[in-house]
Order: sequence, then structure tokens, then C-alpha cells
Amino acid sequence: MSIDVRPSEDSAKYLATDQLVWFGEVTDADRDHLRLGLPEDQRFVVDLPDGPEDHHAGIYGVRPMEMSLPGGALVPIAGLTWVGVHPDSRRRGVLAAMMTDHLTRTRDAGTAISALHASEAAIYGRYGYGNAVLTHQVDLGRGTTFTAPHLEDEVAGITTHLLTMSDSGVAERMRACQLAHAGDFPGTIVGSPDFFSLLSLEPPEQLRDKERRRIIFARHDGEDIGFTGLRREHKWENARPSGTVVVGTFTGGPAARLALARRVVDLDLMGTTKLENIGVDDPILGWVGGPRGTGDIKTWDSTWIRLVDVGAAWPLRTYESDCDVVVEVHDRHAPWNAGRWRLTTTSGAGAASRTDSPADVTLDVAVLGAGYLGHGIGGLLRAGLVQEHRPGAYADLARAMRTTVAPEPSIGF
Ligand SMILES: CC(C)(COP(=O)(O)OP(=O)(O)OC[C@H]1O[C@@H](n2cnc3c(N)ncnc32)[C@H](O)[C@@H]1OP(=O)(O)O)[C@@H](O)C(=O)NCCC(=O)NCCS
Repeated sequence: MSIDVRPSEDSAKYLATDQLVWFGEVTDADRDHLRLGLPEDQRFVVDLPDGPEDHHAGIYGVRPMEMSLPGGALVPIAGLTWVGVHPDSRRRGVLAAMMTDHLTRTRDAGTAISALHASEAAIYGRYGYGNAVLTHQVDLGRGTTFTAPHLEDEVAGITTHLLTMSDSGVAERMRACQLAHAGDFPGTIVGSPDFFSLLSLEPPEQLRDKERRRIIFARHDGEDIGFTGLRREHKWENARPSGTVVVGTFTGGPAARLALARRVVDLDLMGTTKLENIGVDDPILGWVGGPRGTGDIKTWDSTWIRLVDVGAAWPLRTYESDCDVVVEVHDRHAPWNAGRWRLTTTSGAGAASRTDSPADVTLDVAVLGAGYLGHGIGGLLRAGLVQEHRPGAYADLARAMRTTVAPEPSIGF
């Protein structure tokens, strides 16, 4: 059976389907989340002939976003989100039809890359998405000491200021600051102005015993040079305050991050600082002397990347070493990518062309997505997930794609 995917024409039905699939508390603010979260022409639906009447069988949406790449370019990407299939319509190919539709539309729009955060790790690999960024969640005790002798002079000139995220002008300042630093931290994903407004849209039902999201800006010479978001939670143990402050992504250069990190481990009434979204090469681990200098550390997948158009995506970023490799790409859902590509990198610049030469390496397009932001993919050969026909060819490719510092995790979208 062929499944038709079409643009949404009924925002109430679209929202109702999302509320059913994600089974959270329904609030009046959900409509604003949809309005600010997804442009009307980026909402897509599936209805099955025997499917539910008051809901769609499936929905998905696309946030137009920008992402920084190795080398510093900021490029448009399709941020895949709001993916849901009605519980009665699951495992009948609805997601598969929506993914094929998304890839075709994205390519037709001239966008070379799609990105997402996955609810479950097993879902998106089959559609050619590779896990391109890992993230650490790090717990730190109150008063943790950070050692960074070569940053101290710079840190001395930085001040930090606590505000509330919904305060007037804060969303604009956050976006401007993230845009200014994105190029230095490949993998940074910058949302639209509406996306930043969403971060402070917190209806009373979602707050209850929580404080509003706060933000700390780092400033130097009257300019914003970094920020991080946070929320404190009270806890008392044996009459002593031992609250937890949950801290989001850091934005800014190393000195600004150090000033911010010192501030968030020194908040009154807190016992633990939970850093929710730290890149695997983030300076924090160096500042505390390695993983055992933290209270706890966990690792998850952050951004997943899909090269929608291999030929267009390859030259957008820079590369760390030279390579010249013929790659046989398998791509079931975007057949225009499938076949042999000669991928070269010379003095940092990449070029991709079609070729009939014998393949040096055979891999799924998801492997190129996994390595696209600089995350190491060399181990996938040992893992048996890549096939090499010319010894050393895959190492050349993986070495060229890998960056000195691992890519930056992104805020969930
Ligand atoms: C995840 C979800 C969208 C899948 O939709 P679906 O229409 O049931 O998926 P399909 O029938 O198109 O399945 C396509 C393939 O993916 C597999 N698959 C689907 N969901 C999977 C999961 N959670 N884990 C592992 N494999 C999964 C199917 O087994 C199928 O495999 P096949 O191609 O080998 O047959 C749906 O279960 C859902 O809405 N879940 C709750 C919301 C959610 O997690 N959304 C994703 C947001 S990132």
C-alpha cells in the first residue's frame, strides 16, 4: 500500500495527534508551542483509509535551523521534529513514508542536511541518520575547583549576571550570542527567533513547584560573550540545603565558559550542579582533572545527522587531512545519493564527484552523517559496519573527517 504524506491543513488535529502520541499534560500553551515551534508550511501529515478520524495516523514537522560546520561555515539545515505515529497506526510503514517524504522535500528545497534528536536510538539509523555528536551529563559538587592557568587573565575581566529567560530582550541576546560563537564550535545548532522565544514559554501547569528558567550571561567590556540557562531545585537534608541546579548548554569561548562554570557551582543553597549538555571534549573535564573529578558522568547521543545530498554537503565543511577515496554509498531512502562517489580533500577543501572507478570503501550514508561534524568514525571498520576494499582507504577517509576537538552538542529541538 502506498502511503500519502501531505501538508497539514488542520492545526488543531495536528496538535491533538501530537498530544496523544506524547501523552504529556495538555495545556493552553500547547497551541503557542506549535505556532512558535513549526512554520505552518512545515507540518506534514498522513491519514490512513482505516485510520483514526479525529487524529492523523502520523505527523512530522521541520524547523528551519542553521548549523555550524568544521571550518566555521553556518549552513541551513532541516531540523526534523514533532515526529509521531498514532498508537493504532504504528508499525505499518507510516514513519517510513514520512521519512521518504521528508528527504525528498528537503532535497527539492535545496537543503543538503537534515538533523534531529532521537527519542530512541534504534529508530533513525535505518533512514540514513548517523549519531554525529555525543554529549556528557556531568554532576559537580558545590565549590568544585576548576584549574585553567592559561585562561585566568582573560577570565579576570569577565562578569556574570543572572536574569530570567522570559525577561524582555533575553531571547534576542541569547540568539545573537550563539550566532557569534557558532563558527568556533562546529555542531552548534541555532534556531529561529521563534525557537528562542519558545525556551521561555513556560505555562503555570509546567512550572508548579519549579522556578522559571533563569539565564546567566557572561559579559566583557559591556558585551555579552557567553551564557548558560539553569533552573534550581530545592532540597533539604539533615537541615542542610542540598539543592540541585540543572544547567543547560554553554555558549561562548573558553574563558566565558570558565567564568560561567565557576558561577554555577557556587550558587547558594545548592549542593549539586548538573550540567546537562557537555561535549565530550568540553574543557570542563580538563578543568576538574578527568572523569573522576566529577560527581558522576553519563554519555548519550546528541545530534543525529543525515546527508540528504552527499554531493552538496561534502564541500560545505573543511577537512583535517588530505584523502582521495572512492566510496560506494548505500542509501535506500534517498536513492539519488546511492552509488560511487570520489570524495577528495585537499588542503582542507572537499570535493565530491560521481565516478565509475572501483570502490575503495562501501558504507551506508549514515556513516558519512556520523562523521560529518568531526566525530571519530574510524572504529566502524573494526565494528564491521564498513567494508574496505583497498587497505588504508577507510582510515584516510576517517582521518580527514575527524576534527581535533569533538563537535558541540545541540539544544534539544
Ligand atoms: C517511532 C515511531 C514514529 C515509529 O513509527 P511507525 O510508523 O510505527 O514506524 P514504521 O512502521 O514506519 O517502521 C519503520 C521501521 O522502523 C522500525 N521501528 C519503528 N520504531 C522503532 C523503534 N522504536 N525501535 C526500533 N525500531 C523501530 C520498524 O520496526 C520498521 O522496521 P523495518 O523497516 O525493518 O520493517 C512511532 O512508534 C511513534 O510515534 N513513537 C512515539 C513517538 C516517537 O518516539 N517519535 C519519534 C520522535 S524522535
